Amino acid sequence: MHAPDGALRFPGRIGLGTWEMGVDAGQRKQEIAAVKHALDVGYRLLDTAEMYADGGAERIIGSALQAFGAERRAELCIVSKVLPGNASRNGTTRACEASIERMGCDYLDLYLLHWPGRHPLAETLRGFHDLMQRGLIRHFGVSNFDVDNLQRWLQAQERLGLPAAAQCNQLYYCISARGIEFQLLPWQRAHAISTMAYSPLGRGSLTRHPLLQRLGRERGVSAAQIALAWCLREPEVTAIPKSVDPVRIEDNLRAAELRLTGAELERIDQAFPPPHSKRPLEMV
Ligand SMILES: NC(=O)c1ccc[n+]([C@@H]2O[C@H](COP(=O)([O-])OP(=O)(O)OC[C@H]3O[C@@H](n4cnc5c(N)ncnc54)[C@H](OP(=O)(O)O)[C@@H]3O)[C@@H](O)[C@H]2O)c1
Repeated sequence: MHAPDGALRFPGRIGLGTWEMGVDAGQRKQEIAAVKHALDVGYRLLDTAEMYADGGAERIIGSALQAFGAERRAELCIVSKVLPGNASRNGTTRACEASIERMGCDYLDLYLLHWPGRHPLAETLRGFHDLMQRGLIRHFGVSNFDVDNLQRWLQAQERLGLPAAAQCNQLYYCISARGIEFQLLPWQRAHAISTMAYSPLGRGSLTRHPLLQRLGRERGVSAAQIALAWCLREPEVTAIPKSVDPVRIEDNLRAAELRLTGAELERIDQAFPPPHSKRPLEMV
């Protein structure tokens, strides 16, 4: 996961999302069991944020990690995010310490700025650097950054002369939201910034889409697996579907083994055209 060249390597291409976990105390047991189940069946990448249920999702992860075992911590890649409003230099370190405390996980593998906010990027970068020096994070990155934001981020990195660079941008990316393919994905590829696709199931809506269900039936897999395998057709993309259902959790993980054919990708393109292609209406 932490390669000798300092680059981040994810342990698998499917991780578990945790947005909306920790909101309802009545669901707590089921959610802890879901995260435990994910770890049991082989998930090694967990995504969370201080924002999710005000730390509640991180506490769910913390409870599941107790059963996993502290001695196995190094097997995992734990991702969390600092809220932009907290992302001053000291605010970033305080937020990270609180996230680690809630999860009882000693350190974070990847710490992201959740979206661009009011604090100067250099401040957040200094906070990330302090955290790296203290061994509290292994890598850092951003989320919801467009090319302009990323350029500003890279300039700030250069100005500060920091030894480490952003390794990942977590972005909304799924069959029904392909906007990043136009400019952002190629730009990130050229700058060795990996893409973590959030809401890869379109917040669940893609699992009910007739075309994806049809494609799934033809291959003997689920529509969710088709949607996830589609994200993973880009080699530098990882995806973090959220589920609290044990069967779905397993179903989603298996998508990492599925390769869509050229013909299947074409049928998906017809229903969900990539952003650069002109739609008939625009050509009129
Ligand atoms: N950086 C950001 O700004 C940002 C924004 C949004 C999300 N995220 C991260 O990305 C993760 C995933 O995104 P998301 O939660 O928005 O949406 P998602 O993963 O696209 O979809 C989750 C929804 O799909 C359902 N689902 C999951 N697997 C399924 C399956 N195999 N069959 C049918 N339904 C299934 C889930 O219900 P059940 O739980 O009932 O199975 C849930 O309602 C989040 O949890 C969070 O960690 C990050």
